Amino acid sequence: MHNPGKQGSVVVIGLGYVGLPLACLSSSFYNVVGFDIDQKKLDKINNCICPLDEEYTKKLFAQYPIIATSDPGVLHDADIIVMCVPTPVDEHFNPDLGPVKGASATLAQQIRKGQLIIIESTIYPGTTEEVIIPILEQNPNQLKAGVDFGVAYCPERIDPGNKRWVLETIPRVVGGLTEKDLNRAQHFYQSFIRAPLTPLRSLKAAEAVKILENTFRDVNIAFINEIAKSFDVLGIDVWEVIKGASTKPFGFMPFYPGPGVGGHCISVDPYYLIEKADRSGFDHAFLKLARKINNSMPDYVVHLLESALTRCGLDLQKTRVGILGLSYKAGVDDIRESPALKIIRLLLDKQVQVAVFDPHIVNTEMIFHHPLHASDKPKISLAKNLDACLASCDALILVTNHAEFLEQEETISKHPIKVVLDTRNVLNKEKLEASGIIYKGVGR
Ligand SMILES: NC(=O)c1ccc[n+]([C@@H]2O[C@H](COP(=O)([O-])OP(=O)(O)OC[C@H]3O[C@@H](n4cnc5c(N)ncnc54)[C@H](O)[C@@H]3O)[C@@H](O)[C@H]2O)c1
Repeated sequence: MHNPGKQGSVVVIGLGYVGLPLACLSSSFYNVVGFDIDQKKLDKINNCICPLDEEYTKKLFAQYPIIATSDPGVLHDADIIVMCVPTPVDEHFNPDLGPVKGASATLAQQIRKGQLIIIESTIYPGTTEEVIIPILEQNPNQLKAGVDFGVAYCPERIDPGNKRWVLETIPRVVGGLTEKDLNRAQHFYQSFIRAPLTPLRSLKAAEAVKILENTFRDVNIAFINEIAKSFDVLGIDVWEVIKGASTKPFGFMPFYPGPGVGGHCISVDPYYLIEKADRSGFDHAFLKLARKINNSMPDYVVHLLESALTRCGLDLQKTRVGILGLSYKAGVDDIRESPALKIIRLLLDKQVQVAVFDPHIVNTEMIFHHPLHASDKPKISLAKNLDACLASCDALILVTNHAEFLEQEETISKHPIKVVLDTRNVLNKEKLEASGIIYKGVGR
């Protein structure tokens, strides 16, 4: 599939939410091959089926379909290799660099002189030089980073589901091991990104930018979650207060409370910095507290539901609860670290019957592949549509603000729902209350 009219050849390692759009978009300028170890994903890609339910990715994939393989030999032929593998945490919230180390070891066996290796995975500051380069240098030909092959770090800022800010339009930062590596990486991104690219003086600074951005979001969300809890006690509607404070044209930026923080980034990345700083003798007390507050939100949601049910004389344990939304954010099918999973776990532990509906998750059975729910098959009913979910429930928790759940007050009122817990402030409180439903929000 080599097209001599293109600028060179690229292999993208890891074809997920980050790697797949990058591979598709860059294929308009380069000869691109995707490399992944997930055979099911490879089969879909090679049969022109987009493996992800994310609008922008689906559009790019339709426009620029790529071919993909699990044959490491393709790595040898590429001029540029971009690593986009996951960087999760384990069950104790310890960073798991397994995929990064695995991909680096595979690459080391194939590396050749003149290649540029770009890392996009989110990692703690220092990972490229302390972990990745030493693995890459264990190559059969004893090639050296910065001499025989180049290394750069360019964090991905993509926000799945965001229609305005997409891969092409999001400004980026980039760091290189050497000046030449930095220049080559800049040239690569400038060919398909229509946004400013800011060069930074070191790989470590570029790595730290991404962690800073995501910990910034985590601590601010934790802050507003704490304010929501406090204002609830004080009888203040936090959403009304945020609306008011947002009129200040400087010095305030709105963040919103919710059911907790999910996804592969904000709920994970702070642990990378916390652990690295811990090992280096610094205690990130503030970041740890933010994580603790955000992780406590699913418990708080269940507590709010229980209190609201008590107010109308219902016992949580005798209630059937509908969960609207499994994914961690609107418009995507990604359930990684989703607060919905934790809320369902807490309800099941209290012997509550649960029905679930998510229009973005085609195979809802995937919930049972999650370690939190491995043996829950008989206990969770997976609804095919909103009506089917609501029909059998006494209460519902709206966890994800999917567009399909907006303006559904009339549909909800048709069913025997007595309590609505709206964790995203998207349903009309007055309309629901006019139908005799008890409405409760997080912070309202
Ligand atoms: N998802 C986001 O919104 C987002 C945004 C910015 C940055 N990031 C960061 O980008 C990285 C990738 O995230 P993602 O959401 O795309 O992950 P993902 O799980 O959607 O995709 C990762 C892909 O890598 C593949 N993979 C795993 N190990 C591999 C290996 N050794 N060799 C080849 N392929 C391998 C997996 O099969 C999977 O297809 C993470 O570090 C993440 O923190 C993610």
